[in-house]
Amino acid sequence: MLAEGIGKATGKIILMGEHSVVYGEPAIAFPFSGTQVIATVKESSVPSLCSTYHEGALADAPQGLTNIQQLTAKLQQHLHTPNFHLMIQSTIPSERGMGSSAAVAVAVTRAFFDWQEEKLSQTTLLKYVNFSESIAHGNPSGIDAAATSGCNPIYFERGKEFLPFPLNIDAYLLVADTGIKGQTRAAVRSVAKLFEKEPDQTSLDIHQLGLLAKTAKEAIIRNQPEKLGLAMTQAQHYLQQLTVSNDTLDSCIKLALAEGALGAKLTGGGRGGCFLALCDTKLKAEAIAKKLKAHGAKDIWLQGLGVYQHV
Ligand code: MEV
Repeated sequence: MLAEGIGKATGKIILMGEHSVVYGEPAIAFPFSGTQVIATVKESSVPSLCSTYHEGALADAPQGLTNIQQLTAKLQQHLHTPNFHLMIQSTIPSERGMGSSAAVAVAVTRAFFDWQEEKLSQTTLLKYVNFSESIAHGNPSGIDAAATSGCNPIYFERGKEFLPFPLNIDAYLLVADTGIKGQTRAAVRSVAKLFEKEPDQTSLDIHQLGLLAKTAKEAIIRNQPEKLGLAMTQAQHYLQQLTVSNDTLDSCIKLALAEGALGAKLTGGGRGGCFLALCDTKLKAEAIAKKLKAHGAKDIWLQGLGVYQHV
């Protein structure tokens, strides 16, 4: 056993396929190294935590940290560790659709295995993270666990082995945070309820989102930014139909499109959180970023050719 174990993970962005991925449709996501989480763990007299949301005994942590309580209890039991002090430092904005809860679970699991000098396979890692995510989100597809634990963009289908998928396309992606907390758990539940209430229409919308993820894949392979942008904007329409957008997201997306984005949509669970705008040039992306900031967007990142820029 080491004196201290360290684990890291990144945030994630879903380019296409959120919500429909829960129902088996394909999705495209990538690790977002513009935001990161680091967990460190060492021996202590009682299980304790130091994080933005709680400092002290883990037993006294607020309800929002139940997943971490249960994950660490499982890790402690399986790895036969002594009591621990866990520190979590994160630059991933929480509840913004960037996979913060999955990334924390990835980093914590890696830290425990590192501490105990045990090998951690990807399959075991995903098992622990999906356990934690099922407490946080109810019915996770596994895409957040896959994207926050990897180094490459992925083409993901629930229950299947996910494939690395290079995002080589001649365009810039603007990622913007509305500054409003997203509600992944509630949004996932609403879609499930909508499915019960209006099964035909809902399964049609979900299937359309799946088709658009496939269109996006083709557009990326063929380096067709305009086609990708159009697919993104069409996906936003179906996400609205599924009731997972909100007024703030809608007005930011409308502004980005009016200012010349090739396409725009929410990303992640929705009902707040982040959105994406695809731009043909860096100059255009920077101009749109300026307008969005004036409109109230809290944080904006630009990704072009794998380089992140915080503006
Ligand atoms: C959340 O980042 C993505 C959702 O599709 C839920 C999931 O796939 O687990 C909304």
